[in-house]
Amino acid sequence: MSRFAHPAGDRHAEVLPEERPPHAPADLNTLDPTIWPRTSSRADGSITIGGADVRDLVEEHGTPLYVVDEEDFRSRCRDYASAFSGGEVHYAGKAFLCREVARWIMQEGLGLDVCSAGELAVALSVGFPPERITMHGNNKSLAELEKAVEAGVGHIVADSFEEIARLGFLADKHGRRPKVMIRVTVGVEAHTHEFIATAHDDQKFGFSLSSGAAAEAARRILALPQLELVGLHSHIGSQITDTAGFEVAASRLATLLVKIKDEHGVVLPELDLGGGYGIPYVEGDTAPDVKEIADNLREIVSKVARGAGLPVPKLTVEPGRAIAGLAGVTLYEVGTIKDVEGLRTYVSVDGGMSDNIRTALYGADYTARLASRESTARPMLSRMVGKHCESGDMVVRDLWFPADLATGDLVAVAGTGAYCRSLANNYNYLPKPAVVAVKDGVSRVIVRRETEDDLLRGQL
Ligand code: LLP
Repeated sequence: MSRFAHPAGDRHAEVLPEERPPHAPADLNTLDPTIWPRTSSRADGSITIGGADVRDLVEEHGTPLYVVDEEDFRSRCRDYASAFSGGEVHYAGKAFLCREVARWIMQEGLGLDVCSAGELAVALSVGFPPERITMHGNNKSLAELEKAVEAGVGHIVADSFEEIARLGFLADKHGRRPKVMIRVTVGVEAHTHEFIATAHDDQKFGFSLSSGAAAEAARRILALPQLELVGLHSHIGSQITDTAGFEVAASRLATLLVKIKDEHGVVLPELDLGGGYGIPYVEGDTAPDVKEIADNLREIVSKVARGAGLPVPKLTVEPGRAIAGLAGVTLYEVGTIKDVEGLRTYVSVDGGMSDNIRTALYGADYTARLASRESTARPMLSRMVGKHCESGDMVVRDLWFPADLATGDLVAVAGTGAYCRSLANNYNYLPKPAVVAVKDGVSRVIVRRETEDDLLRGQL
C-alpha cells in the first residue's frame, strides 16, 4: 500500500477562500464597464458586443469563440498614443497578433514589438513598415536576427553578449547598420506573478544593471561601428497595477543613460520602458491610468536627463495586454452541470485550458456572465471548468452563476483578448477556436477555427 496516497476528504481546498469570490453580486446580469468591452451591453436580455448579439455570433461561428471588439481595441491604441504623444507606442504582439490585428496597429500609427521570426513574418505579410518594428527575445537565433536585419526592422533589443557579436557579424554581412538597444535588468521587484516578473536579477532576460553587465554591453556595442546604439530598454513584468515599479525602472534607466554619456561621451537618444500595464479582470480590480503613467514617466526621465544637462530622450512604451485584453471576450456553450452537494456547482464548457491556460498557469481571475439571456434566479456558487482531462482545467475558479443556468446556455468570459489565443494549444486535440472581430453589428472571421484536418496535418 502506498505510504503517501490517502483517502480524500470531501474537499481538498477551502470551499470559499477568503478573498474570492468577494460576494455574490446583487444582480448577476450587469456588465461592469471597466471589465467588459467598451461597446458591450445587454439588449433583449442577451449580451451584444460591437452591435452583434452573442446568440447570432454563435449561430454563425460556433463555440468556443473569441470575439474582439474592434472599436475597443482601436480606442485603446488611441488612448496610449495620445497619452504618450511625443514618444512612441509599440503594441506587444505576443498579447495577440494576427494579420488583421497587425493592420489595425499599422492604421492606428503604432509600432509593433515582435519576439520571434514567426511574429515578424505575420507583420511583414501585411506590409507592416519594418522601421516601426522592434525585435525582442532572450534567445534570438542567428536566422531570426538575420531576418530582422535583412527586413530592416527599426530596433533590435540586444539581450546577451553572444547576440551583440552575432549582430556585429550580420551587420557586416548585409552591409547594414541596425539600430540596437540594450535590455537592462533594472533590479525592480514587480508585484505580479513570479512567472511574469522580469526585472529582478535572478532570471533569463537582459543585462543586469547592478552587476555592471549593462554598462559592459554598452562598451561592446559602441566598439562595433557597424551597430548604432540608440538607447536602453527595460521591461519589469506584466499585469502590474502598482506603478511605483515603472517609475523606479525609468529613473534607473535614465541614470544609466547619464553614466554612458560620462564614460563614452555618447548621448543615447531613446529609452524604451517596456509594457506590463495591468488591467482589471474582476470587479474591484484597479488599473493604472494611462495618462497618469505617461505624465509620471516623462517627468522622472526629464528630471534625470535635465539634471545631467542632457536632452530628454524619446520615450517608447510597449503595452500588449492594456490594448488587447479588455477588447476580447470568449463565448462558450454550457455542457454538463454537476452539483457537488454542499460544496459548489461545476459548470463545464466546451473549451478550457486549451483556449485559456491563464487560470491554470498563473491562478488568473476572470469574470463570466450568462450571455444568451438574463436571469433573476438566485446566485449559485460555481466553478467554470473546461472539457480537458485535468482537474486543474478551470476557466474561472470561483464565481456566481444564476441557479437556473442550463445546458445549452451561452456564457461569456471577459478580459480574454490578451494571452489567451496567443497561448492557445491543442491539448487533447481540441481545435483552436475562431477569432471574430465585431464592429457596427458586423462580424468578420479574422482567424478561422481549426478543423480536424488542421490537427492531422503534418503527421505521418
Ligand atoms: N515588452 C516586452 C519586452 C515584453 O516581454 C512584454 C511581455 C511586453 C512588452 C508586453 O507586456 P504587457 O503589456 O502585455 O503586460 N503570458 C503572460 C504574460 C507574459 C508577458 C511577457 N512579456 C500572461 O498571460 O499574463
